[in-house]
Amino acid sequence: MDAVLAEWKARTLAEYRCASVTGELLLWLMRLGFSSEIIQQCHKVLGEELEHSDICWEVYATLGGEDDPLECAEGSLVIPHAYGEPAFDRLVLFVIDHFCIGETLAAPLFAAMTEKVSKAGPKTAVKRLAKDTAGHREFGWAVLDEAIEQDDAYVLNLAKKHIPTFLTRVETAWGYIPDGWKEPVGPEEGKFGLIPRAVYKRIFYQEIAESVLPELDARNLPGREAWSKRKKR
Ligand SMILES: [Fe+2]
Repeated sequence: MDAVLAEWKARTLAEYRCASVTGELLLWLMRLGFSSEIIQQCHKVLGEELEHSDICWEVYATLGGEDDPLECAEGSLVIPHAYGEPAFDRLVLFVIDHFCIGETLAAPLFAAMTEKVSKAGPKTAVKRLAKDTAGHREFGWAVLDEAIEQDDAYVLNLAKKHIPTFLTRVETAWGYIPDGWKEPVGPEEGKFGLIPRAVYKRIFYQEIAESVLPELDARNLPGREAWSKRKKR
């Protein structure tokens, strides 16, 4: 059960962090002349991320978690991308990394968590997370499309420089099983909405091939090139 508690604690903070960075994005969208529709959608995403954090915290507390899962360094709640650079650069890089790549991969991972979950609280929570995250993925691509409309050559240049790093980082997080890995997630943990690392890995490669790279292709962004040239482990 240690793995279950630790996971729901981590999810509570991760969702809060999503809310916080989405709040920062909201201000940039307003300042940089994005459409009112996109700004409204961002506001909705922010609200949902906050609710996700509350829902995860409730699961954590119900399972016996007693401490505050949101205890963290304030600096970990801000957007780290291209600090000190113009807001448009920061927005584009953050959106590609966090939404277009991150949420596109997260949506099927949450969907996989709904498959074996059977305990009431975790079941309600992962179902909600899976449903909303699919919408957040759409939102991210829509923001990127508006950024491309504003300045396609500039976005392409930024994407060329940074997509390789984003793909490498996310592969390390979700597509890789360290040597000697002792899997803490079995059938019992699955009932609480956890999935083993092998499932993360399988879904990661599947979604890179079936969603992330085709979406980048559709926008003439060099994801495929970065993916084939990346340093493999
Ligand atoms: Fe979320």
